[in-house]
Amino acid sequence: MVSAANVAQDSVPIFRIASDFVHSMKPPSTISGFGSSPTTVVEWSDVHKTYRMGDEKVHALNGVDWTIRQGEYWAVMGPSGSGKSTLLNLLGCLDRPSRGRCRMFGHELRELSDDQLSELRLRRLGFIFQSFNLIPQLTVCENIELPLFYMGETARAAGERARALAVEVGLADRLQHRPTELSGGQQQRVAVARALAADPWLLLADEPTGNLDTATSAQIMELLDGLHAQGRTVVLVTHEDQIASHAKSALHMLDGRIDKLIV
Ligand SMILES: Nc1ncnc2c1ncn2[C@@H]1O[C@H](COP(=O)(O)OP(=O)(O)O)[C@@H](O)[C@H]1O
Ligand SMILES: [Mg+2]
Repeated sequence: MVSAANVAQDSVPIFRIASDFVHSMKPPSTISGFGSSPTTVVEWSDVHKTYRMGDEKVHALNGVDWTIRQGEYWAVMGPSGSGKSTLLNLLGCLDRPSRGRCRMFGHELRELSDDQLSELRLRRLGFIFQSFNLIPQLTVCENIELPLFYMGETARAAGERARALAVEVGLADRLQHRPTELSGGQQQRVAVARALAADPWLLLADEPTGNLDTATSAQIMELLDGLHAQGRTVVLVTHEDQIASHAKSALHMLDGRIDKLIV
């Protein structure tokens, strides 16, 4: 158990965060009047992101229009510096656009407070990173449980959910291991399970196989493909054609603009 969990009773939520606004959100499939389709998850219109470097302005995103519907599987591609990370930061609600409409689950990002963005990230988005980003001091089970504790789940519910997810990603026999005792592929499986803990509406994967060998990459992609097949919405950033070919749609960035859109 994570330390905060030790002091909690089974029936007592461990953490509560600022506002409950995400609970007022309707699942993407039921949002009406939002975008051209009721299943719209993300709707961007003329999105710009400008960074200031001293007196210089860097136009990292330069007018991006993009719609992601529920259940879609996207690859985001493009050379270094083309704006992929900036785009993923906006999708991940880690930042707001400088200009343009950036709607997610019916909410305009520019209108949300920092606390609301945090809550949206915690409860509605799942993140998978190239470098796994597991907490080395925690066991596999505790790493998977972590978002659930921040959401105020009870220790018992979090533990049950974590064990079920560990089974789903093929790590049922590694629950008490620590990340350093696992292979890269196993660590990424833990990260996938953690990303699924809150049952998110959108999964974001940033070069998820970038640190893995070819055989292990294939296994992780099989896992992501399976999540898509279950109906999850997935966005994957990659520079490898082989990895991108798993997705059903592709967005190619160049100099902050969409160079090619394959739907
Ligand atoms: N925080 C920042 N401050 C200033 N410039 C930035 C910042 N982040 C990204 N940039 C610039 O924005 C452009 C797009 O960067 P980025 O989104 O990281 O591209 P990619 O992920 O495709 O390599 C690049 O020119 C980069 O140098
Ligand atoms: Mg990048």
